[in-house]
This record gives sequence, structure tokens and C-alpha cells, in this order.
Amino acid sequence: MNPFQYRNGVLHAEGLPLPAIAEAVGTPFYCYSTAAIEANYGAFARALDGTGVRIAYALKANSNQAVIRTLAGLGCGADVVSEGELRRALAAGVPPDLIVFSGVGKTREEMEAALAAGIHQLNVESVPELELLSEVATAMGRTAEIALRINPDVDAGTHAKITTGVKGNKFGIDIDQAAAVYRRARELPGIAPVGVALHIGSQLTDIAPYRAAYLRVAELIRALRAEGIAISRIDLGGGMGIRYRDERPLDLDSFAALVREAVVPLDCEMMIEPGRSLVGNAGLLVSRVIYVKETDHRRFLIVDGAMNDLIRPSLYDAWHDLIPVREPEPGTAHRPYDIVGPVCETGDTFARDRLLPPLAAGELVAFASAGAYGAVMASTYNSRPLVPEVLVKGENFATVRKRPTFEEMIAADTVPPWFEGDPRT
Ligand code: LLP
Repeated sequence: MNPFQYRNGVLHAEGLPLPAIAEAVGTPFYCYSTAAIEANYGAFARALDGTGVRIAYALKANSNQAVIRTLAGLGCGADVVSEGELRRALAAGVPPDLIVFSGVGKTREEMEAALAAGIHQLNVESVPELELLSEVATAMGRTAEIALRINPDVDAGTHAKITTGVKGNKFGIDIDQAAAVYRRARELPGIAPVGVALHIGSQLTDIAPYRAAYLRVAELIRALRAEGIAISRIDLGGGMGIRYRDERPLDLDSFAALVREAVVPLDCEMMIEPGRSLVGNAGLLVSRVIYVKETDHRRFLIVDGAMNDLIRPSLYDAWHDLIPVREPEPGTAHRPYDIVGPVCETGDTFARDRLLPPLAAGELVAFASAGAYGAVMASTYNSRPLVPEVLVKGENFATVRKRPTFEEMIAADTVPPWFEGDPRT
């Protein structure tokens, strides 16, 4: 479903015209649609219906409380990778027994927080991590139920910065060493090795890498069971791709068919950890054109959003559609624009030679598919305030994170006592 459509010549989020929100909160801002998040979750739940697979939303994609609450209200669990995300999940009301803690570098404090909260499972990625967890759990008088994250050595064919399941990257335990690590885990006090986890990359649009990975892991589970290591859980990871430009999103029915064929017969408790596919297309970054700057060679659309607000184009050369908020007249000629922000770096470029209808200073534009890995990756570079976030539901919206004031930003710094008095005197 697309919650962002033109009505009467103006782009709306569900029932609300975007200019009305811009008027209320200023630009730039992130705008999320409740209906789209619900529809995305519903599509997963329907495809996986009857398989028993539970969905744990990967909070890293968008960890706003309102977004987590929307999903938690539908029965969704959480996949967290830091104490901050753990606390966000708990604060949003996700039951601890639906929370999984992933991540390659959990600290002692994070392990303590996870065990104290009584979460469902920790996904462990190395032997030193296993040993530390054993020590922490034993000291707390707990047993940590764990899965080992296995690196199945499958190339997911995605961007190099987000592929995770091939040999030589920092994630997981090589599948060749897995059996030895399970044996070690079994001996350690305070550790119950009950599961296998994997996650091979992000923005996958093809089912084949999942198939290869699940078949390898199924083989591993059978081998482990043959030597008496009772694996009863499997975490199938996330990574389901969405449409940014002309990609075909991962087909959830084919995914579910693969799960039925390759994973269900293992008779494990199953979960998946999607992030992007639940929220990516449910969000826009709305921005205002500050200037149109024409040089001999190029035409720049300088907007008030920048790389610090949405870093994906600079970091991954990612494509985000740019939608004019005022609907272009049918047949309007398009012209090439370089879309850039005000940050003092050439890398602050959203797109080059993007074909757009004529746009003028003051007009609103929206970067599409910005609901995942947008706000969460934002920074205050150039002392630009973090962008506010708005959640729309029908004809209503709420500001779910406000824009900090400059005073708040400056007050976060502390001046050492040796600077006395007013620096201007
Ligand atoms: N589980 C684990 C262990 C992960 O590392 C990730 C993402 C996910 C689940 C969720 O993956 P998803 O369903 O969202 O693809 N910032 C990048 C994406 C980084 C993904 C990191 N791990 C981007 O903007 O494309």
C-alpha cells in the first residue's frame, strides 16, 4: 500500500496534506504512516500464517517509541543490538520474552541488562562473548538461553557495506567452526545453547541466498542433533528488500514457501528479524527548497534536508525518489537537477541529474522510502538540529520526536570551570 498519494494536487500522508504538517512542525521533518506500518506487518503475518514464525522487529531501522508501539500493539517482538534499543523496546511495552539481543560487541553491562530483563534469547557471535556471558550469567545466578549466530558463507549480493554473511566479515561464527563452538557452549556454566541464528545481509531482493543459507543451517542443526546438542530454535534473520527505485521487493509468499520447505521440517521454534521491510516505505523525509542555483554546467536544487538527516545516499549511493509535494501538471517537461543539502561537503548530495518537473525556492519536496535507516542514522553535523518525527494516523498526526532547540543543543555541552565569565568580555 502507498499511504503517500496526491489528492487535489497535493501530496498527502494518509488523510493529511503534507503542507499542513510542514506548517505545524517546520522543515525538514520525517513523516511516518501508521497504516503503512500496519500493512507491512500484516503482509508478513499473512504470508507466514500457519508456519509458527514469530516476527521480531529489528529496532535499528527506526527506534522511535511511537513506531515500536505501533508494531508491539500488533503482537510484534523486537530484535535489539544495544542496551539503548533494549530499553526502548521495554519502554514501548514489548514483552521481554519477545525480545532477542543480537550484535557483535555486547558489553558486560549490556549482558547484565538483558539477563535482568529476562529477555527471550541472546544471539552470541564469538567464543570470547560466550565466555563473558557465562561469567555474567553465573554471577547473576541465571542461565542464558542463547543462539549462536552462524556465518553460513553465502553472498547476499547486496551493497558491500551491508552484506554480513560471507567469510571475512566481522559477523557470526564460521559455519565450519560452529560444531566446536556449540560443544564449548554446552560445557560452560550459565549457558543453554538452544538455537541457531543467522542474518546474511540487508536489502535482499532475491530468495536464492536465503535458500542457500537455510539449507546449510538445516544441515548444521541435523549434525548438532546427531551428537546430542538439542537445537530447538532458529532465528532466520532479516534483510528483506523493499523498492527504492525499480527493485522488485522480496516476495514474501516465496519466502514463506521456502520456510515451509526448508525450515519447518526441523521442528524448531522460529523467528525472523525484519527491519527495513516493516518501516522503510512507511516514511518520508519532507524538505523545503531553499534555492535553485544554476551554473554553466549544472542546476542545483538546494534543499533544507542534508546528509546529516538522511545519510543513505552519501554512504551507500542509495537512491530515494524525490516527490514534489505540489503535483506537477500532466505533461510537464522534466529537467535534470542535482539535489543537494546545505552541509559543507561535496558528499552532501542526494542525487545527480535527477529528472524533475520545474521546482522553485520555497516548494516542498519529499524523499521517499525514508522510514528505515533515516532518522536513526541522523547526526547533528554542522550543528543542525535532529529532524523532528511525525506519525500520521488517518486524519491526525502527532509529533513523536520534537526538534531540539539551539539552546538545548548548546546546553548539552559543559564548559570547564577554568573558563570564567563572559567570553565576549
Ligand atoms: N538482524 C540483524 C542481526 C541485522 O544486523 C539487521 C540489519 C537486521 C536484522 C535487519 O535487517 P533489515 O531487515 O532491516 O534489512 N543502514 C543500512 C542497513 C544496515 C542493516 C544492518 N543490519 C541501510 O541504510 O541500508
